[in-house]
Amino acid sequence: MGKKSLKPYNDYCPQTLFLYGTYDEDKKPDFGLFCWFSYFWHGEMGVMCSIGGNKTTLENIKRNKIFSANLVTENLLSVADHLGTVSGKDPNKMNVELDIGKGEVLDVPVLNDSPVNFELEVMDFIYKHDGTVMLCKIRNVLQDDSLSSNETFEEKLMRIAPVKTTCKHYFSYTGKDLGGWGEPRKNLKD
Ligand SMILES: Cc1cc2nc3c(=O)[nH]c(=O)nc-3n(C[C@H](O)[C@H](O)[C@H](O)COP(=O)(O)O)c2cc1C
Repeated sequence: MGKKSLKPYNDYCPQTLFLYGTYDEDKKPDFGLFCWFSYFWHGEMGVMCSIGGNKTTLENIKRNKIFSANLVTENLLSVADHLGTVSGKDPNKMNVELDIGKGEVLDVPVLNDSPVNFELEVMDFIYKHDGTVMLCKIRNVLQDDSLSSNETFEEKLMRIAPVKTTCKHYFSYTGKDLGGWGEPRKNLKD
């Protein structure tokens, strides 16, 4: 089997999805959908993530230096797709049904329906052209009590059903195609 060389591209490399929660200047919550999210080591586990362009999420993070990252599961997919395809500049973006709580350690909005919420504080911003990389300290992880059950890891992951993305499509934890970007939001009530 041969190989071909391609320009920068990451198809067939599935990524886990998170909704980043921030407050704007009037303390109104904003959520955006992100997949460029991973981990690094600084004596303990940290989070590294990157945002392209100047999004409402980034403006809020630059101002407050804190945000939440909420794991996206299948039950959140329709609303997550909406939050990933509508800009925070649209005044109606946040007029969707969301159960929004507060972080335990940081003053950040969290999604109560997500089973894992990171509370993150930015340690460093790295600016490259019009992209921003953020290295974050994990100040707290909120995890649903249901994940402390006696089930196996496999059973728990199958139950919470985290969503992955690649090739501009969403995929279930077991690899089922859950639709292209912009499709699941069509299931939301107007
Ligand atoms: C599946 C998916 C993944 C995304 N991942 C990222 C990402 O990792 N980085 C980024 O800058 N934008 C990403 N976006 C785009 C933002 O979610 C989108 O621009 C959103 O409107 C930002 O919300 P905001 O304007 O409220 O900040 C993604 C969009 C989708 C649909």
